Amino acid sequence: MERNGTVSEKELERQKEYMARMRELNEGFFAENGRRRKMHITTFGCQMNAHDSEKLAGILKEMGYVETEEEKDADFIIYNTCCVRENAENKVYGNLGYLKNRKKQNPDMRIALCGCMMQQKSVLQTIKEKYKHVDIVFGTFNLYKLAELLYINMTTNSPVFDIWKEHGEIVEDLPAIRHFKYKASVNIMFGCDNFCSYCIVPYVRGRERSRCPQDILNEVKALAADGVKEVTLLGQNVNSYGKGLDEKISFAELLRLVNDVEGIERIRFMTSHPKDLSDELIYAMRDCEKVCRHIHLPFQAGNNEILRVMNRHYTKEYYLSLVEKIRKEIPDISVTTDIMVGFPGEGEKEIEDTIDVIKKAKFNSAFTFIYSKRTGTPAAVMENRVSEEDAKRNFNRVLDVLNDVIYEQNKLKVGNVYKVLADDVSAGDESYITGRLDDNSLVHFKGDRSLLGKIFDVRITDCKTFYLIGEKV
Ligand code: SAH
Ligand code: SF4
Ligand code: F3S
Repeated sequence: MERNGTVSEKELERQKEYMARMRELNEGFFAENGRRRKMHITTFGCQMNAHDSEKLAGILKEMGYVETEEEKDADFIIYNTCCVRENAENKVYGNLGYLKNRKKQNPDMRIALCGCMMQQKSVLQTIKEKYKHVDIVFGTFNLYKLAELLYINMTTNSPVFDIWKEHGEIVEDLPAIRHFKYKASVNIMFGCDNFCSYCIVPYVRGRERSRCPQDILNEVKALAADGVKEVTLLGQNVNSYGKGLDEKISFAELLRLVNDVEGIERIRFMTSHPKDLSDELIYAMRDCEKVCRHIHLPFQAGNNEILRVMNRHYTKEYYLSLVEKIRKEIPDISVTTDIMVGFPGEGEKEIEDTIDVIKKAKFNSAFTFIYSKRTGTPAAVMENRVSEEDAKRNFNRVLDVLNDVIYEQNKLKVGNVYKVLADDVSAGDESYITGRLDDNSLVHFKGDRSLLGKIFDVRITDCKTFYLIGEKV
């Protein structure tokens, strides 16, 4: 049966057929060369983008590719791109230039580009004109067609470009390969309707649409059965989840349903837009024992006029009162945020407002960005631009204050014991493990691989600005 907004099973069957045909081609390659074709995916964007890469990896595995850690060994290279800031785009162009020579050495190699950046007409034009060694380009709305596009490319030996302007139906039940065994991301909605004046996301990800709660719950249950302990529910603005569904359901109600799934021990979500954060959600977070004590609540800027021009629909005072309310209901919660410096019109008074919010909200962590002009957004044509020099200076001022605030917040944890989910071996030192507290703080502690995926108590013994140091108790 075809559910509202869900791609038909017939289409999924069609794609599975292409996966099978590709597998045959790849088996042929294996028989001839005595090795399997290798693939490598680079993710340039956010968690949503990263989760799309997991779906792409799932499809590629179905087709008989094996994953390689090293891009240089790959026969099939995918760049899953991002365009939220200019430097994300520049990285893609830089890497592509590099691949040109490599392709000369390995003519069988295929290069595919997908993701947000590809949804822009000008980019597609540039790729067609200047990067003729690219084989396949697709966008954010038709990722489920990878097998079909690759098959066409392989059998016709000509480039394939398939970009949709609008979203089609939501695709359910795609295979996916998770990056972590114990942690998984689950899309609960796609797109964004907010049109913050600086942001390109609504133009490249389309209109907001929510997945049916039943589909989400089935996915979470399947993940739990597969050993997943922590799920992160993903959406650009999870607080408006449910809009447009036949069934009336809020994000808070969804959280309560996910909280009931057996086997799942931790639930995270991102991102929350302050304008839509309801009391109902705060209470659900407070009441649901599996929902982590962490909220990522981007404020962007502290000045009310800037916030108005950004189209954010809240004020500095409202934001601060919201943080206060959240901390009152859930005292041990960590509040993290996104901050943007250098938006048009930002001067001394405006940056002081941003710094004031940082001091008052006492963030536990933050992502900071310098405003990047995105063609096609309203802010791109605003006249009162901030010079690069001023933006950089203010950015450093913001960082200085922020780092002090974060360090003070971390210091409060020293001496306490927290539950930690062990994620990974430390990059720098094999005898250390990294994990996350319930509130998402990063902690390093002595241990070995046998701890990975387990949750246990860790006493915090020391801290830096960006992480905690602890010992297993
Ligand atoms: N949907 C999320 C954020 C998605 S983009 C939300 O609204 O909270 C992640 C962050 O990138 C944003 O919070 C913002 O701080 C930053 N960002 C978006 N567009 C940007 C631009 N044009 N220049 C610089 N930073 C930008
Ligand atoms: Fe961009 Fe605003 Fe949508 Fe976030 S809410 S994705 S910042 S338009
Ligand atoms: Fe994410 Fe970048 Fe797209 S932040 S939604 S990958 S533009």
